[in-house]
Amino acid sequence: MHTPEPDRSDAACGLQKEEQVFRPLSNIVSRANVTPQEYAAALELAASDFKAYWEEAAEELGWFKRWENVLDESEAPFYRWFVGGRCNVVYNCLDRHIDTPNKNKLALIWEGEPGDSRKYTYYELYREVNRFASALRKLGLLPGDRIVIYMPNLPETVIAMLASAKIGAVHSVVFAGYSAKALAERIQAAEAKAVITCDGYYRNGQVLKPKPVVDQALERLDSRLAEVEHVVVAHRAHVETPMRKGRDHWFDDLVRFEPPEALTEVMDAEDPLFFLYTSGVAGKPKGMVHAHGGFMVGVHRTLDWVFDIKPTDIFWCTADAGWVTGHSYAIYGPLMTGATVVMYEGHPLYPQADRIWRLVSRYGITILYASPTLIRMLMGFGVEFPAAYDLSTLRLLGSVGETFNPEAWMWFYKVIGRQQCPIMDTWWQTETGMFMISPLPISLLKPGSVGKPLPGVEADIVDGAGKPVPPGVRGLLVIKKPWPSMFRELYKDPAAYKREYWEKIPGCYYAGDVAWKDEDGYFWIQGRADDVVNIAGHRIGSAELESAVLSHPDAVEAAAVGVPDPVRGEAVKFFVVARSGAENVDELPEVLKAYVRQELGPMAVVQAVEIVDSLPKTCSGKILRRALKARELGMGIDDLPGLD
Ligand code: WTA
Repeated sequence: MHTPEPDRSDAACGLQKEEQVFRPLSNIVSRANVTPQEYAAALELAASDFKAYWEEAAEELGWFKRWENVLDESEAPFYRWFVGGRCNVVYNCLDRHIDTPNKNKLALIWEGEPGDSRKYTYYELYREVNRFASALRKLGLLPGDRIVIYMPNLPETVIAMLASAKIGAVHSVVFAGYSAKALAERIQAAEAKAVITCDGYYRNGQVLKPKPVVDQALERLDSRLAEVEHVVVAHRAHVETPMRKGRDHWFDDLVRFEPPEALTEVMDAEDPLFFLYTSGVAGKPKGMVHAHGGFMVGVHRTLDWVFDIKPTDIFWCTADAGWVTGHSYAIYGPLMTGATVVMYEGHPLYPQADRIWRLVSRYGITILYASPTLIRMLMGFGVEFPAAYDLSTLRLLGSVGETFNPEAWMWFYKVIGRQQCPIMDTWWQTETGMFMISPLPISLLKPGSVGKPLPGVEADIVDGAGKPVPPGVRGLLVIKKPWPSMFRELYKDPAAYKREYWEKIPGCYYAGDVAWKDEDGYFWIQGRADDVVNIAGHRIGSAELESAVLSHPDAVEAAAVGVPDPVRGEAVKFFVVARSGAENVDELPEVLKAYVRQELGPMAVVQAVEIVDSLPKTCSGKILRRALKARELGMGIDDLPGLD
């Protein structure tokens, strides 16, 4: 065990009152996939020739045809990686394991909320995916077609994603908590040909039914813009489900007679693999497009290095498949490394707050990757629950999505990790596809910091003009070189891709986060610089929140700002100007809270609605959200970081 010691950067930056550092454990270092010497060599190689670094990472995976050029920058910022290469991520997740001892190893351990469980070996998962891939082909789905998947964490969700990628289609997973309106927007934006869902699923002791939501969403579609030809429904809760003849099919019926072998489509490295919609800086959610080749290289390398995956690991990333974490590190990444993946259907506190620990001890989980919100929630229930379970199998812990406050970090480290498990606090985004800034198990850790940029990633903190700021000074987080698993575009909006990400700070990728670096080069993330609210790690743009509240007839003007929430990191506060003549204005805050939840789904957590006479605005009429936020936090407007 190692002892905390004071860090000299305390005094240097003065931003962190109390800081501890934790030296790497010798038993972890001696067995790490990447030794300190290899790490130093990788940093050196990446600094002198980052393309060579990523080329070496690409060589660890299977390709149908080798690339001719690692990176084409001729049309920057529209970068192309592994140009001329042919591949398919599913080949690396499944096909190539079938010829190795992994064939009969467990790929997926799934547990339903009621406690039922299903397990798949790599060979079984491979065969299920093949059957569903053939079924999708029979429905007429072709490479490049878009498939929306509206399901919670079920084995069929994994099968649907992999089968879609296998046939070269592009999946867009929509979080099952989203409303019909949000689902319709995403189906329409992706011009999806098929939607895959389930009859019902278990969440917090209830059966939720997504199929009627799909039906409502399809009714809202403008048929000139999108035509969904097929809806596939997997059985889960066996509840009564409306089915429309011709359009709707049961998953089981489609796969029943399909053969267990299917061709893996040979894709160009740059062909799209999936879309994910997330809130960007401006207005509506944006469709981030990720490509087969670069995505698999970046995710595989970073998972292997950061989580130090061993053949014996049982890896659990608690994320929902509807978020990028659920794509990169709950499904694609761990399957590429040949790990055994755990997936859980339900609510983390059901039937009580020991569920996570029960899962860890039931399956002997070795690596647990969660979010600060989840840890803070569990911390609120004290140490009795974790103490009641054998958590000794855990050897590494991870965090993502929000700043991990040192208090919760220490709880995770001491109570869950017994001071034996390093915590990998990974900074990344839907846009980046992979970890960008993160410690490795061999790194010195500072609670609350995400460590240093990984090899091949050049990150910095700059001012609004792009000039690097000195250590200890807050600035904007930028990435100075392209990386393989970067998003390739915003679907059908190349102008916004350039404007929002590549032109704000010339020559750099603008991440939208405020951060500072200490004297040792460790990064400390402070939160978003833009009008994006990060609720429990889920990004929602203020424009999206405001348009939801404004669709209520009694709200005429609205501003949404993120305010601190002790568990979720942030929640939303609305300032609303009510319609003159609106009745029951006293009750309007509660009415609007419920309304927003219904419009956007349960992750739009509204802390308060304040009815105001007017909103502060710039002379050009732009709402001054920063002024409202500063007032809310008891700060001056200039104390808040941001671009404008
Ligand atoms: C925030 C999630 C602090 C950040 C993978 C980023 C973090 C946004 C961390 C992306 C972290 C992510 N520490 N903040 N370790 N990781 N963030 O696209 O503000 O859902 O810009 O991707 O989450 O959220 P997204």
